[in-house]
Amino acid sequence: MFNSYCLIFNCLITFITLQNVEGSVSFPKDFIFGVATSAYQIEGAWNESEKSESNWDYKTHFYPENVNDHSNGDIACDSYHQIDEDLKIIRELGVQSYRFSIAWTRILPDGFSNRVNEDGIRYYNKLIDGLLRYNITPSVTIYHWDHPQSLQEMGGWTNTLMIDLFADYARIAFEYFGDRVKHWITFNEPDLFCSDIKRGTVFSDGFGRYLCAYIMLKAHAKTYHIYKNEYYIKQKGKIGITYSSTWHEPKTNSTEDIAAAKRALEFELGLFANAIFSKDGDFPKIVKERVAFMSARQNFSKSRLPELTSEEIKTIHGTADFFGINHYTSDLVSDPSWESFEVSYDVDVHVDRGVDPSWPGSESGWLRDVPWGLHHLLVYIKDTYNNPIVYITENGFSQFELQDDGRVNYFKGYLESVANAIAEGCNVLGYYAWSLMDNFEWNAGYTHHFGLYHVNFSDPNRARTPRRSAFWYKDFITDQKS
Ligand SMILES: *[C@@H]1O[C@H](CO)[C@@H](O)[C@H](O)[C@H]1NC(C)=O
Ligand SMILES: *[C@@H]1O[C@H](CO)[C@@H](O)[C@H](O)[C@H]1NC(C)=O
Ligand SMILES: *[C@@H]1O[C@H](CO)[C@@H](O)[C@H](O)[C@H]1NC(C)=O
Ligand SMILES: *[C@@H]1O[C@H](CO)[C@@H](O)[C@H](O)[C@H]1NC(C)=O
Repeated sequence: MFNSYCLIFNCLITFITLQNVEGSVSFPKDFIFGVATSAYQIEGAWNESEKSESNWDYKTHFYPENVNDHSNGDIACDSYHQIDEDLKIIRELGVQSYRFSIAWTRILPDGFSNRVNEDGIRYYNKLIDGLLRYNITPSVTIYHWDHPQSLQEMGGWTNTLMIDLFADYARIAFEYFGDRVKHWITFNEPDLFCSDIKRGTVFSDGFGRYLCAYIMLKAHAKTYHIYKNEYYIKQKGKIGITYSSTWHEPKTNSTEDIAAAKRALEFELGLFANAIFSKDGDFPKIVKERVAFMSARQNFSKSRLPELTSEEIKTIHGTADFFGINHYTSDLVSDPSWESFEVSYDVDVHVDRGVDPSWPGSESGWLRDVPWGLHHLLVYIKDTYNNPIVYITENGFSQFELQDDGRVNYFKGYLESVANAIAEGCNVLGYYAWSLMDNFEWNAGYTHHFGLYHVNFSDPNRARTPRRSAFWYKDFITDQKS
């Protein structure tokens, strides 16, 4: 599988790393190690065989200045044409599972479910069958930020029509792929796509994010019930949702800072997770009280946070078989001295954020290597949400060099944190490294490199080359499974 250079390199790395790994960290026998990507970030072929324009196609084409290097995902890693190459490198890593997402615009170009694009279906079928042939479990995200631009023009995730349209789209995914896909994720990181409603307007900051949370929760719950009522009996799969959260550590042990850190977690994670996973459902009490208080001070007739009816609370509660979490880094949160009554999400959250400068940095300004943060976050999820089944659906570090020692250290530390959390009773069943290969990193374009594999974006073939971390991860998994 590897060329001879790689084989020699691999041996060297094995020799070096096993001594650090062996004995120090141990995962349960059936723990799943995986690797993740998403459609817009890797597929390219943005306008091929009937695929329609997505919100990300539109944004990057018409507002390139919002992307660091003014790039887009038109070609990306060219994965639409390189299934065999992708399957080869996934296999090389020795992972048990591959997490990828479906492009709504590729299988339902009109956004509606009345017309299915067979070429899109063929692409995902070939990928799924290729994975299963090698005993690699597909974990499929139905929505990873890209939807038809035609629906964006109707307001996207602030239009309640999205609830039914999304559920119809998900139904097509179950219909066509559910015989083989047993691990579904409805949404990836609602906190992030809901923060991207329409930047810089009062609507976005003070209303849009909350409205998006409400609509997303209803779309998720509807989809979950469709799966359980109509597909589960035959398909017997699991369906969950993936959040993102930074770990917010109180900067000091003062009551105020501890409350500020809790507030940051409730606004980032709780806003989307509480209604599904908490004991009583609904939006978190802290968020409801804070937004209601601010809205009243701002002379609104009611809270800017939509109120869930008791019927909605019941319908949304418990609608997930697992809790997916994407986690990258931590910060230090304190209670601010400033006061403001501006209509804005950040004012609602009302915290100051900082970092410890001794935490090792990455290629991305926002990402530092703080392995204990993941341990704290997993214990927080266990305690706050009644110890759900957890999959870490993304975790990774950005570094360009092929000798990516920073990334290897990061993975070592974070995996050890996961093992410690499991030893303390956290119900974590899997871990997916982000990412299989360098890709279009949203507003960072191609300037931040998260790949276990380097991708040459000047090469028409988009050649993939393993970094040191690819060998390290492979050896780590082999060691855990032997
Ligand atoms: C697809 O987009 C490319 C630019 O990325 C353009 O050159 C090409 O003509 C388009 N193809 C179709 C079929 O529209
Ligand atoms: C806060 O208290 C905890 C537990 O006593 C301790 O581990 C931690 O270091 C303290 N943090 C700070 C910033 O003093
Ligand atoms: C809300 O109304 C009160 C009473 O009329 C007024 O004093 C205050 O300035 C208003 N607040 C805002 C944010 O407009
Ligand atoms: C990337 O691809 C280009 C074009 O094929 C080639 O000239 C260049 O040497 C490659 N770069 C690396 C680092 O392999």
